[in-house]
Amino acid sequence: MTVHFIGAGPGAPDLLTLRGRDLIAASPVCLYAGSLVPEAVLGHCPEGARIVNTASMDLDAILSEIRTAQRAGQDVARLHSGDLSVWSAMGEQIRRLKAEGIPFTVTPGVPSFAAAAASLGAELTLPGIAQSVVLTRTPGRASSMPPGETLANFAATGATLAIHLSIQNLSQVTADLTPAYGPDCPVAVVYRASWPDERIIHATLATLEEAMDPAISRTALILVGPALAAEGFAESCLYAPDYDRRYRPQSADSPWASWSHGDD
Ligand SMILES: C[S@@+](CC[C@H](N)C(=O)[O-])C[C@H]1O[C@@H](n2cnc3c(N)ncnc32)[C@H](O)[C@@H]1O
Repeated sequence: MTVHFIGAGPGAPDLLTLRGRDLIAASPVCLYAGSLVPEAVLGHCPEGARIVNTASMDLDAILSEIRTAQRAGQDVARLHSGDLSVWSAMGEQIRRLKAEGIPFTVTPGVPSFAAAAASLGAELTLPGIAQSVVLTRTPGRASSMPPGETLANFAATGATLAIHLSIQNLSQVTADLTPAYGPDCPVAVVYRASWPDERIIHATLATLEEAMDPAISRTALILVGPALAAEGFAESCLYAPDYDRRYRPQSADSPWASWSHGDD
């Protein structure tokens, strides 16, 4: 018996890895975080599977479900939205499983920031504009932020920010970011990226609060940074015709001329 933690992706049932889909299909028990994982994803469960929405359960109750499956020798597919490496609460579950000697695997998923960027048709790292993406959030009722992890500090880097769990903190977001990025800095809010009712709102830090639909109160990502509306950025060296590189040596004198793939 194994607990398979699976990144369930941003919402669309076909934005799962093949491994994730196959593990769901092979597990007679599925525990899913129903506050964010849409029911469409559960279509991958086998017929007759025990499917439990853990949104209203505490950690002990979730462990109790896992122990019941263990006694029955049944694998468990444990689904969390997006990828498991950020804001999944997987860490505390794994700690309990390790303490009880229950085996587990982890299968990554498509994170919501990547799905949101795809919906925008945007590359978040553009040459000369931004070369870093910060995945962050603002403090919530149940989660404070460690000192130093402030929006103002991240804004000082000029990176593209992907701000999660913060759609209800828009005035704080704009107040904290405007001094570093300026009021004209582009912002995109993507609500339910990849869901059938996905919505995109384009604004600037100055217009964001007015542009927002108050009906959007959760499952939205705020992307901020100059890369979001940049047009005049430089092309990367990667595909520049005269750029000497391992895969495209420019002359017989190139240090890459005698390199073979086996060297790497
Ligand atoms: C608890 S976190 C989970 C993050 C998830 N593990 C990931 O990899 O994206 C929930 C937050 O992720 C963002 N989010 C999750 N799914 C989303 C989606 N389909 N569209 C936009 N934002 C989403 C929202 O900011 C939401 O408040």
